[in-house]
Amino acid sequence: MESLLAGRTIDEPIVDTVGCRLTFPVRDKHQKDGLTYEKDVAPILMTKCVGCHSKGGIGPFALSSHRKVVGWSEMMEEVLLNRRMPPWQADPHYGRFQHSLSLTAEERQVLLHWLGGSMDRDQSVEDPLEQNIPVHKEWALGTPDQVIPIPEQTIAATGIMDYLHIQMDLPFDQDVWVKGYDIRPGNTKVLHHIIAYILEMHDGQWERRGFLAGYAPGMGPEEFPLNSGVLLKQGQKLEFELHYTTCGTPEVDQSQMGLYLHKTAPEKTLHTGIIMDDSFRIPPQDGNFKHSRTTRIKQDIVLYSMNPHMHLRGKAMRFRVKMPDKSEQILLSVPDYNFNWQRNYRLTDPLRIPGGSVLTVDAAWDNSPLNTANPDPSRQVGWGDQSFDEMFFATYHFTVEAAENSSKSQFSLAD
Ligand code: HEC
Repeated sequence: MESLLAGRTIDEPIVDTVGCRLTFPVRDKHQKDGLTYEKDVAPILMTKCVGCHSKGGIGPFALSSHRKVVGWSEMMEEVLLNRRMPPWQADPHYGRFQHSLSLTAEERQVLLHWLGGSMDRDQSVEDPLEQNIPVHKEWALGTPDQVIPIPEQTIAATGIMDYLHIQMDLPFDQDVWVKGYDIRPGNTKVLHHIIAYILEMHDGQWERRGFLAGYAPGMGPEEFPLNSGVLLKQGQKLEFELHYTTCGTPEVDQSQMGLYLHKTAPEKTLHTGIIMDDSFRIPPQDGNFKHSRTTRIKQDIVLYSMNPHMHLRGKAMRFRVKMPDKSEQILLSVPDYNFNWQRNYRLTDPLRIPGGSVLTVDAAWDNSPLNTANPDPSRQVGWGDQSFDEMFFATYHFTVEAAENSSKSQFSLAD
């Protein structure tokens, strides 16, 4: 190295290095035994890819046959290696989640080793992908009990759009309990998010009393946990918060919200807890700026799901709990937060958390130029509605053990 830097002839250009040889026993085994498209590969594609990569799904192409898989094989190899696909940001070491798309190490190896080989298939049997093409229904959870059209919006080609807030009367002539919802985005090119709040009149003012539904890219329909629901009472209103991001051409959006209703009142109210903080200031160029916020859980609760939210500089978010007996547990860790894939992570096994426990959310942002999504690394960044500003906004959904369903406010803001 010294010779090279000094521009001298290099006396000894090759030297032996000390180290151990790398072996790839799983790859060798896969090569020896042979992986089959039908038995080994197609089942993984069917559970982890085809749900989106099919006609009517959100993936940009359909993995609907062996021929299609071979055609996309190089790109598939790349996205499997850099872990862009399947899109699932939660660390599989913490918590178990419904509808997890995460690939196990073994599944990833099977796909990569098969893609690296001859990619043959057994012509004497039917192609499993052709036999199992998913049908995407207009509403994934079935026909809603009530479809609420959200007023159509025209979005200019360029510029920054403030949040729009649209109030709407409830379309019911009695109190109803909502057990699930599906927000169907009209135009995903420009729609950044939709939140449906519940408004109630207090001292002559309409105030937000609860959270009903939300949509952001990556989110699907929600079925509330069994025996829980969100009450919509006569005299209340809905408020839709709509946020659009312009995309270079004029666009129109007409989104819809489908509501599914309980026939009889459920046992519990589903609450939304919010842990938010607007006090952070992310320094320019900082690649790993951290901020945490805690809240005390007041009563015994059952936790169902968690939803991390930051913007384009968001890097990692984590939920952890310290129980009254001092034991600590990480509930959800998203080490590779991605603004394009926002999810409500639903626990496979809902967790009972005793009153007096402390819930902490840790966030980290990447305001360096190495973050390719970063709109401007030279700026100090604080809280703001727009994606070029940031947020620390984590929500979680729970029922209260002692309480019946109640008409009290659903929100429980951090202390
Ligand atoms: C939750 C839906 C979803 C799942 C599941 C999913 N994809 Fe995708 N995939 C997408 C979307 C949306 C895009 C386009 C946007 C993007 O590239 O992020 C995409 C893009 C791709 C691309 C093209 C990348 C590019 O830059 O052109 C490949 C290849 C791909 N996916 C392979 C896979 C494979 C293989 C799996 C399963 C192991 C998988 N996907 C699972 C939604 C999904």
